[in-house]
Amino acid sequence: MNVPAHIAIIMDGNGRWAKERGQIRLKGHQAGMEALHDIVKACSDMGVQVLTVYAFSTENWKRPAEEVSGIFSLLVRYVAKELKELNENNVRIRLLGDIRPLPDAARKAVLEAVDDTADNTGLVFNIAINYGGRAEIVRAAKQLAQQAAEGQLDPENITEDLFAEQLYTADLPDPDLIIRTGGELRLSNFLTWQSAYSEIYVTDTYWPDFTPEKLTEAIESFNSRDRRFGGIKA
Ligand code: FPP
Repeated sequence: MNVPAHIAIIMDGNGRWAKERGQIRLKGHQAGMEALHDIVKACSDMGVQVLTVYAFSTENWKRPAEEVSGIFSLLVRYVAKELKELNENNVRIRLLGDIRPLPDAARKAVLEAVDDTADNTGLVFNIAINYGGRAEIVRAAKQLAQQAAEGQLDPENITEDLFAEQLYTADLPDPDLIIRTGGELRLSNFLTWQSAYSEIYVTDTYWPDFTPEKLTEAIESFNSRDRRFGGIKA
């Protein structure tokens, strides 16, 4: 099996998973956190270079306050529970998104996770929190405009590569495979720049039910694709 270098996942369906069981939505996110544990381990074991997960979007603030604070509490718990094992598995955590508006405890926890895993050389595990693809592109444009305004950059020299270096994913390969659980056929402002040539795999399985076996099915589907990047078949 040819393993994609970068897998990105939209972990959708937690709420529906909980509803089907007569439980509150947060129980679904909690089960989702457990599913995430197994997927991170599987990616690390398979030799995936980069795993990116969409934990909280810039639009998710619209949810009831109780659910929002519940997700951030889970994040704190995730770090407390998983940091040791992530280090044992040589996993390096990076963050995508603007974490400034996060509650203190959540911001501290994720920064600790980044700091504590910074020297690891295995799987790069990107957690997208308060992330939006358009916001990321605007941020990159602002950074370049600032450099131009200060006379350090000639706008003529802006290339796609230079632009990509301003994104949260600087130095990382674009996602080869984007997996969306929960059945919706959209990207929801996830990796808007980076997804230009990604293969997309959608499964009806809700995120808490997404197992390493299902990840293998997604990778098998990816392997059957004919990636031409705008060219024609060799
Ligand atoms: C989408 O499902 C899921 C989220 C907005 C949150 C994802 C969070 C986790 C998996 C747990 C915590 C994360 C970490 C990194 C510890 P949904 O609520 O939109 O589901 P629905 O479409 O069925 O309502």
